Amino acid sequence: MRLASLVVPMLLASPVALAAAPSPYDLASAQRGYAVYAGVCSACHSIRQLTYGDLGGLGLDPDQLHAIAGAHRVGDGVDAAGHALTRPARLSDHLPSPFPSEAAARAANNGALPPDMSRLALTEPGGASYIARLLTGYDAAPPAGQALEPGNYANAAAPGGQIAMPPPLVAADQVRYADGTPATVPQMAHDVASFLDWAAHPHAIARRRLGISVVAYLLLMIVLLYVLKRRIWLNVR
Ligand code: HEC
Repeated sequence: MRLASLVVPMLLASPVALAAAPSPYDLASAQRGYAVYAGVCSACHSIRQLTYGDLGGLGLDPDQLHAIAGAHRVGDGVDAAGHALTRPARLSDHLPSPFPSEAAARAANNGALPPDMSRLALTEPGGASYIARLLTGYDAAPPAGQALEPGNYANAAAPGGQIAMPPPLVAADQVRYADGTPATVPQMAHDVASFLDWAAHPHAIARRRLGISVVAYLLLMIVLLYVLKRRIWLNVR
């Protein structure tokens, strides 16, 4: 039974090791990051791939989710006179853009379009850490030897040293954190980057859980098949 003496500890240890491996996301930070998104970034950016219900993946309970959704209003068609109607958001509603159209978004932002944030942490080169650096990169002097384009802001992290987004995080305590963490600018930048990283992979945690059970199952099969093989070949010398 030399093989079994190897396989059995493996069987026991692997799911434990997988389960104990650091979680891919710091959910406490991502939860605070949602508060930053809701309080600051949502004034310009949508997250269309995410519903209010998806925020449950951050560890929020149903009451909190309903409270969050209910505090936002979304479009609900037009009335008889053609005026736009709104209603409180439901869990199945997607995190909306504050602007009715791309043209309106550009008009409000000096011609620049605030991108939808659903996949930003995946599509921006440098990912979440770039986003955090961008948000804290504003106190830089204008790029050396380069004129700042009209309406742009100097930012050491942005490609070309400038960006059309006005500095969104400017003062500590711009957002009130429910867990009492001091809301300094670098802390808010870090947290909103964690949130956007999670938002770009909202089902990663469920996938990981499934992976752990699949690996545990396959390891169990190795042991059972090994025992079966020994039984079948027991009388053959
Ligand atoms: C006043 C409107 C406004 C707010 C508020 C705002 N943004 Fe933006 N954001 C913009 C605009 C406009 C752009 C496009 C900039 C460009 O094209 O140069 C942009 C672009 C970005 C980009 C892409 C940068 C790149 O290199 O392509 C990121 C990341 C970003 N914003 C993150 C945030 C985060 C995080 C917040 C909240 C903390 C936030 N923004 C709040 C207007 C805003």
